[in-house]
Amino acid sequence: MAGQQGGDRGGFGSRIGFVLAAAGSAIGLGNVWRFPYTAGQHGGAAFVVIYLVCVAAICVPVLFAELAIGRASRKNPVGAFASLAPGSWWPAVGGLGVLTGFAILAFYSVVAGWTLGYLGRALLGTFADPLTHEQSVALFERIEGAGIIPVLLTAGFLLLTALVVRGGVEAGIERAAKILMPVFFVLLVAMAIRAMTLEGSAAGLAFFLKPDLSKIDGGVFMGALGQAFFSLSLGMGAMITYGSYLSRGDRMPGAAISVALADTVIAVLAGLIIFPTIFAAGGDPQAGPGLVFVVLPSIFGKLPAGFLFAIAFYSLLVIAALTSTVSLLEVVVSYFVDERGWRRERATWLVTFACFLLAVPSALSGNFLDWQSILFGNYALTIGAMLICVFVGWRWGIPAAVEEIGRGGAPMPLAPLWGLIIRWIAPVAIAGVLIYIVATGNYM
Ligand code: PHE
Repeated sequence: MAGQQGGDRGGFGSRIGFVLAAAGSAIGLGNVWRFPYTAGQHGGAAFVVIYLVCVAAICVPVLFAELAIGRASRKNPVGAFASLAPGSWWPAVGGLGVLTGFAILAFYSVVAGWTLGYLGRALLGTFADPLTHEQSVALFERIEGAGIIPVLLTAGFLLLTALVVRGGVEAGIERAAKILMPVFFVLLVAMAIRAMTLEGSAAGLAFFLKPDLSKIDGGVFMGALGQAFFSLSLGMGAMITYGSYLSRGDRMPGAAISVALADTVIAVLAGLIIFPTIFAAGGDPQAGPGLVFVVLPSIFGKLPAGFLFAIAFYSLLVIAALTSTVSLLEVVVSYFVDERGWRRERATWLVTFACFLLAVPSALSGNFLDWQSILFGNYALTIGAMLICVFVGWRWGIPAAVEEIGRGGAPMPLAPLWGLIIRWIAPVAIAGVLIYIVATGNYM
């Protein structure tokens, strides 16, 4: 169904289905993996403060903008801009989004592959007893640095993603998200409580929650802004695409705010697990992309039924990552289905294979992965989001967007403020951060 062109592109079965699927896209490795290591690299709590400001003041408004574009046009990102601004160059912004989604999927599935590796270890009972920090580091190197293994794990994860996307929107994406996201939340709460009661964890809590404002510089702003877009799946059209599957009669504002709130709560929870644990175990919060993978194994053995806990946790992390990779692949596939008239099946397999080829260098080199994550995860999304603001604010128009958002019967809250943010505040603030970064050469 979802594979056909025209009116019958599939859609979400219900509003709650949409909320869970959009939250599924937003919640993923961005929250559990990228948020803690980025916060760790940028000074902890100071980063968290800027992050929260970015989410509330810039990202939530952009989320509304993307959902409105999607539902008004009922198209993939390229088609959406083409139908709202015919004959213009705006579809190129959608094209940038599709490319960005493809590139993010390529490094994201490498990290998702690591989670598969850890799930395998959990099933083998590796985490039944608490690992020391050194053992944990050695284990990470065995999974991530072992040549062919990460490549195979990446391939396995991409295969899982393709199988879901091939099934279409309602059957695949919605059903998976509906059941599993709430379970994931409960598990994270239990882990956070355990982490915060570890001996020596207080310093970690302070690192994460007590801001030292002198640590704020341009890099912190860029890191926080990029991470906020990344975590909410903004700036590349994932939310345009999901908005296009949201029914006209559904109330959008509540749905959008629930998604943003859920995503933020999960990121903070992940921080409440990682930082107390790393300080208790004597590790380095600035360790970078390996941080979470190295930190977590030391906590399972300290939880009741740690063996089962580890299995449940990594299974759910795999699924959380899967609902995110699905949304990334869905953007690219919906482009080929809508704009090029490909069958969904063919588009899914070809895109997945091409993505695998781009993923291989990331699977083999942590530096390449890091670099991709910054280039596409931070910069491309930030530039994309800025262009989306300019489009809605100055081309499509605030009144048309506000009308679309309110269509389901719940009007856009604070519409004048939202218009001000989309037209002026967000694009100017984003441009300011980008210019500052270029001027100071502080790219990371
Ligand atoms: N938001 C996802 C996460 O946090 C990643 C993602 C980014 C998904 C961009 C889609 C688009 O894991």
